[in-house]
Amino acid sequence: MATATRVPLAPLLMPPTSTLGQCHNHSLVHSLTRKSLLETSSLLSVSQFPQKLRIANKGFKRISVVSAMTDSNRSIVLVTGAGGRTGQIVYRKLKERTDQYVARGLVRTEESKEKIGAADDVIVGDIRNAESVVPAIQGIDALIILTSAVPKMKPGFDPSKGGRPEFYFEDGAFPEQVDWIGQKNQIDAAKVAGVKQVVLVGSMGGTDPSNPLNSIGNGNILIWKRKAEQYLADSGIPYTIIRAGGLQDKDGGVRELLVGKDDELLQTETRTIARADVAEVCIQALQFEEAKFKAFDLSSKPEGTGTPTKDFKAMFSKITTRF
Ligand SMILES: NC(=O)c1ccc[n+]([C@@H]2O[C@H](COP(=O)([O-])OP(=O)(O)OC[C@H]3O[C@@H](n4cnc5c(N)ncnc54)[C@H](OP(=O)(O)O)[C@@H]3O)[C@@H](O)[C@H]2O)c1
Repeated sequence: MATATRVPLAPLLMPPTSTLGQCHNHSLVHSLTRKSLLETSSLLSVSQFPQKLRIANKGFKRISVVSAMTDSNRSIVLVTGAGGRTGQIVYRKLKERTDQYVARGLVRTEESKEKIGAADDVIVGDIRNAESVVPAIQGIDALIILTSAVPKMKPGFDPSKGGRPEFYFEDGAFPEQVDWIGQKNQIDAAKVAGVKQVVLVGSMGGTDPSNPLNSIGNGNILIWKRKAEQYLADSGIPYTIIRAGGLQDKDGGVRELLVGKDDELLQTETRTIARADVAEVCIQALQFEEAKFKAFDLSSKPEGTGTPTKDFKAMFSKITTRF
């Protein structure tokens, strides 16, 4: 039986000559070692720790105390869509920076949780259900939203026969439900929980309602994404809205990043960006006041041209747009 295929939005945001890199499937095999207990203990109250773990680990009480001291200097950060292609890079980077962050992930399915290592700090929930996101958001300092509706390709497309593939969204998983209601649920829960900053990844192209991305599967995806961005900007929560160009699965940290506004970058040849760079910008946005109350387009120069971006404070300082 033919199966539907998940497709990236990238080709529609890319120059015609661009090719998609291969997706790096990050395997975050994670065992519950003493170190990981330290990393996760601030996320879970004592009662949330599995009983057998508490019994098995005689040093638990001492670990909790050490953790409480350590965590006063660390931000608890939730990334939603943590099983997605950019989300899993953010989750991994947060886990690597143990001196700064306590990572938490929200994924839609148990399969996604397995894919990123099945650690206790990964919570399964559906953002379309407001109640479902509350436990993950409780107690966090910052939220990075990387959830998105994903169009699927209708089965039967044969590139050798020419023509264009057709796309659809599954029932209940249209952009209206995921990119609008789902993001709104997260923003509402963040506000109630007193979250100090929300970083939302959106897409370039939202200034033009007739952008071809909107006709994919009759989803109006950019329109619903934009509505969620506006809702966040109006929420009163300090925010950073990153409107990415065409996403590529390439190494990060090796290109000069470009920030822009009002889709102006879409008129240039530099309208793509590596997922790894978007992930880094999401985390860097947590570190600088200059990133707060800002919305901007993000792409990069091709590798080998320009100077790889290292000074994120300077990059955020250049941005003047609040929406
Ligand atoms: N592709 C592009 O070229 C492009 C360009 C510009 C901007 N963007 C935007 O950049 C962001 C990151 O893109 P990406 O390609 O890295 O993302 P992605 O791989 O498509 O990940 C999206 C994630 O959202 C999750 N999700 C969907 N519905 C959910 C629900 N109801 N509850 C909880 N989670 C749900 C998915 O979970 P499952 O895996 O379990 O389905 C998936 O992990 C997205 O907002 C995307 O629209 C993409």
